[in-house]
Amino acid sequence: MTNKNYIRMKKLFISLLTIFTVIPFYAQKKEIPIYLDEGQSIEKRIDDALSRMTIEEKIAMIHAQSKFSTPGVPRLGIPEIWMSDGPHGVRMEIDWDTWSHAGWTNDSCTAFPALTCLAATFNPELSAEYGRAIGEEARYRKKDVLLGPGVNIYRTPMNGRNFEYLGEDPYLASKMVVPYIKGVQENGVAACMKHYALNNQELWRNTIDVEASDRALHEIYLPAFKAGVQEANVWSIMGSYNKFRGQYCSHHEYLVNKVLKDDWDFDGAFITDWGSAHNTDEAALYGLDIEMGTWTDGLTWGQSFAYDNYYLAQPYLEKLKKGELPISTLDDKVRRVLRLTFRTNMDRNRPYGSFATPEHADVARRIAEEGIVLLKNEKNFFPISKDCYDKIVVIGENAIRPLTTGGGSSELKVKKEISPLDGLIEKYGEDKIFYTMGYGSGPTVYDQFVESPYNADSLRTLALDLVKEADVVLFFGGLNKNYQQDCEGGDRTSYNLPFGQNELIEDILKINKNLGLVIISGNAVAMPWLDKVPAIIQSWYLGSEAGNATANIIAGEINPSGKLPFSIPKKLEDNGAMSFGEISYPGINNKQIYKEDILVGYRWHDTKKVVPQFPFGYGLSYTTFEYGNATTDKKEYNKNDIIKVSVEITNKGDKDGAETVQFYVSQKKPSLIRPAKELKGFDKVYLKAGESKNITIDIPVEDLAFYDDRVGTWVVESDQFKIHCAASAVDIKNSVTINIK
Ligand code: BGC
Repeated sequence: MTNKNYIRMKKLFISLLTIFTVIPFYAQKKEIPIYLDEGQSIEKRIDDALSRMTIEEKIAMIHAQSKFSTPGVPRLGIPEIWMSDGPHGVRMEIDWDTWSHAGWTNDSCTAFPALTCLAATFNPELSAEYGRAIGEEARYRKKDVLLGPGVNIYRTPMNGRNFEYLGEDPYLASKMVVPYIKGVQENGVAACMKHYALNNQELWRNTIDVEASDRALHEIYLPAFKAGVQEANVWSIMGSYNKFRGQYCSHHEYLVNKVLKDDWDFDGAFITDWGSAHNTDEAALYGLDIEMGTWTDGLTWGQSFAYDNYYLAQPYLEKLKKGELPISTLDDKVRRVLRLTFRTNMDRNRPYGSFATPEHADVARRIAEEGIVLLKNEKNFFPISKDCYDKIVVIGENAIRPLTTGGGSSELKVKKEISPLDGLIEKYGEDKIFYTMGYGSGPTVYDQFVESPYNADSLRTLALDLVKEADVVLFFGGLNKNYQQDCEGGDRTSYNLPFGQNELIEDILKINKNLGLVIISGNAVAMPWLDKVPAIIQSWYLGSEAGNATANIIAGEINPSGKLPFSIPKKLEDNGAMSFGEISYPGINNKQIYKEDILVGYRWHDTKKVVPQFPFGYGLSYTTFEYGNATTDKKEYNKNDIIKVSVEITNKGDKDGAETVQFYVSQKKPSLIRPAKELKGFDKVYLKAGESKNITIDIPVEDLAFYDDRVGTWVVESDQFKIHCAASAVDIKNSVTINIK
């Protein structure tokens, strides 16, 4: 080859090389959409993805494609979003288009204790563990959104879903919900705080129109949601079924657009409850971002594959195309859904999760143990040491009934559930434990009461026979997550225990007075036998480790430290909401007025001097605690200060234990009515027998504010305040007086 030819060939070679490598390389580089580039900020990625989407793709993203998923944008590689209930474990798989269980064999989860139990621990660190563990389970199951936690305030003991919530106090609920959300979201799984807002009863939940004052709204019903948004940066929130002031909460101009999105700067996705959208225009304009579960208005109830008919589907598209609704609000929704996606299923760094592990069972057990509340314990009935008795008779359906099923959408299919009876047999040995049901109820069917298949008389006769010979009797009763017994879709119909339990307890007492009760419920119940029974435990739906936790408490291997997250009134009318009759609960002609206003729970009992059976924050221990005098770092504070309150606590008994020290605050001369006192701080202190600890907690002065509806804002007034150091809402040990300038 001549030199010239060689040079020509070389040039040709270089040109070809450039064509086949360098140019495609640059071309390809230029082509990488920003939304796929994880080096970019999420907001840039959102802008880019949005700019590439057709209007049809945008519409597809904001409504369901199946019972629990939305489709993403396959053309752009934006994945589907998968959701699951929530909040006590990751629910079994549900059919694509019906509510039937899909029948998978790899979806048996860990059941964590119900949220009432979590609240009763008064332990935010356990809440973080709960969130982390359930988040790991959700992630393992490839869920992007976990439909929980629930933070509706316990307003009346009738509400069928109180067991899914965090009690009656907005401060407690706020402190407990924040770590749960953070824990879930560490896994790249969005928590979905629910049900926003004022969904405080199940009866007529789809139609009830709630009227509550601005103060009740801001002081009682919204703070936990606000904390979830501002302190935990929750990635999604679920709307509620009910109306507030005439407008459905799932597309509510004031609640969603103004409060949630404008005032609180919520940047996540606002999702309907399943079937809670009612109108395309309102859904488009009043803040709804994702529509799930519709099969109600405008569609035949139960119509299958109705997704295109959703309010935010074809009807919305048509209106957008005709220019009847603005594109800007559609884009805002899509941005939020994209943000949810980038935070979850497009985050390649999120961990892989784990499922039904021994570690998760351990978390579930520790929460259960710390949540169980000892209500009464005459003559040290509990603990029952292993060699104390030869014949322990156990009565009651709740000793054996699976309590992780039922309850509605929080139902679970579990890898294991240890019943209280199993736990007791394991602890005391088969030869010491004798069991009979005593009473029985029907199988769990959602939305429907089913008669008990048992012969009540035979069950009772067998029980009364067995207790004759017993050294000690343990009765496991309560409610059971059946319809109207702590279950979604219906409220309780009576404050009394169901299925003849009160009569059975009285009958047992006539034969054997050495009786301890374990009430399992998510709600307060009437206790007509209280004075005659030596010992009572308030237990909860404890999940997979129920039996182990219960037996550990009964045997004294764990010292009880739970405190009631709600007041137990002596009678139903002693509850604030119930005291005003039908207009207050359950409403008349689908209208309801929250007449007790800001005086919910202990705020009512305290202010109106209605003595509860057991107060909020109450719970005994197998040891006793002595409180020193609380002190504050100063006597006078400015509005931006932080009050440091200290107190010394001593464990005076011979058992290690934990005490939740509570700080309530009252204002001397508020310009508007305020509750007699309100919880503004707590600390759970673990003390060895004989040990003392000095604890200090911070109360920011701004937390002493009330919502002044005359000016529509939070106000701290210059005044004298008292900080009460207490063991429950009625057991005030001592108080410190301070001044706010
Ligand atoms: C419940 C929600 C639940 C949803 C999906 C609704 O009926 O109110 O709490 O997350 O169903 O199962």
